[in-house]
Amino acid sequence: MALSVLLSSSPLLTSKADEKYANVKWDELGFALVPTDYMYVAKCKQGESFSKGEIVPYGDFLISPCAGILNYGQGLFEGLKAYRTEDGRITLFRPDQNALRMQTGADRTCMTPPSLDQFVEAVKQTVLANNKWVPPPGKGALYIRPLLIGTGAVLGVASAPEYTFLIYTSPVGNYHKASSGLNLIVDHKHRRAHSGGTGGVKSCTNYSPVVKSVMEARSSGFSDVLFLDAATGKNIEEVSTCNIFILKGNIVSTPPTSGTILPGITRKSISELARDIGYQVQERDVSVDELLEAEEVFCTGTAMVVKAVETVTIHDKKIKYKTGEKALSTKLHLILTNIQMGVVEDKKGWMVVV
Ligand code: COI
Repeated sequence: MALSVLLSSSPLLTSKADEKYANVKWDELGFALVPTDYMYVAKCKQGESFSKGEIVPYGDFLISPCAGILNYGQGLFEGLKAYRTEDGRITLFRPDQNALRMQTGADRTCMTPPSLDQFVEAVKQTVLANNKWVPPPGKGALYIRPLLIGTGAVLGVASAPEYTFLIYTSPVGNYHKASSGLNLIVDHKHRRAHSGGTGGVKSCTNYSPVVKSVMEARSSGFSDVLFLDAATGKNIEEVSTCNIFILKGNIVSTPPTSGTILPGITRKSISELARDIGYQVQERDVSVDELLEAEEVFCTGTAMVVKAVETVTIHDKKIKYKTGEKALSTKLHLILTNIQMGVVEDKKGWMVVV
């Protein structure tokens, strides 16, 4: 692969060098690309398995104008994070789950996935190569973005003859900067996914169509958009980049992953943690009307972690929810991040040392 190293400058980079850390203003991290030093690249011809893969300098690469990803959106991505713990380790949260999800997505989009072992090993190698960019404990995480894309040339609609498995990273802080909860608006016009489509896998094609809704919502002062199901327009499904939960009494409910909703790894982990502390967790259709009576609403995702929702607007009606110290979402956020940051013992076996 021809590579040209990207000589990129970022306002987040400082001028003073440090041996252990890259020159980043760690307190100012949001969720925007801060290019790191290296990326991982492996290739696979259709019908074969992936090459060993190598760590190369991070940068632009050559791609056929006729590539499957460019023409027909044949691509999947994943997102996971590496954390630096107080005792100096660098850890990953459930990378095997991302590897598995990529396999499911590859089947749906007709690509050869890397093996589970290759995926996890490649993530570790990429993090190790970029270890200076893993933020200090408590200052954020190194976001890891694995891609599986059709890079071979394909003119007729078909699977590309060659796939690339690529991993790059960026240090990140919070996805939404505001420390208060999200203000969501229900989108009554656009749908994110439909039955039989690709909403249940992490296809690149699921994300650009939500941008219009998100931009419209932001221009009206909302933080993000809540999508409804395409079949009836009566049930809540997913926020643009994350899963959603509601709380009423002792019952935490979240829409089921029956093909239109992304099976989030944070979603699954939070369901387990909520059960551990005595809540009943139901995966079922959640009607938009239930938002009127919910006590809490919160979102989960790798980028989002666990984020309280302060208000949801349905047509012109704004409903307010409990947020803050006493909210369940705050408690779950703390339980999860304490495991991720190595503050408490990981009794689940979720964390993997790099
Ligand atoms: C993640 O949480 O990793 C996501 O996939 C969200 C991303 C689209 C920003």
